[in-house]
Amino acid sequence: MPLKINVQSKVVHYENNEQTLLECLESADVEVHYHCRDGFCGACRVTLVEGEINYPQGEPLAFVGDKEILPCCCTPVTDITLLIGE
Ligand code: FES
Repeated sequence: MPLKINVQSKVVHYENNEQTLLECLESADVEVHYHCRDGFCGACRVTLVEGEINYPQGEPLAFVGDKEILPCCCTPVTDITLLIGE
């Protein structure tokens, strides 16, 4: 069973474990701002409302607030719900 990503009243399936969360959202036409795609700049940050993610390459360097995650370098571990800000 693919994991489900609830975002902007869509449900996106995460099926390819090689993908980052950002790549998965992009392939579903969910727009996320990004810059470095490598955990440095913080441009891609979104709010994790529910569920768990991890960072396969280790904790990213960019600052993120409580509940914020960096989709460019994380993968979902459970079904997740995201809030993409302005
Ligand atoms: S795009 Fe730079 S931290 Fe994600």
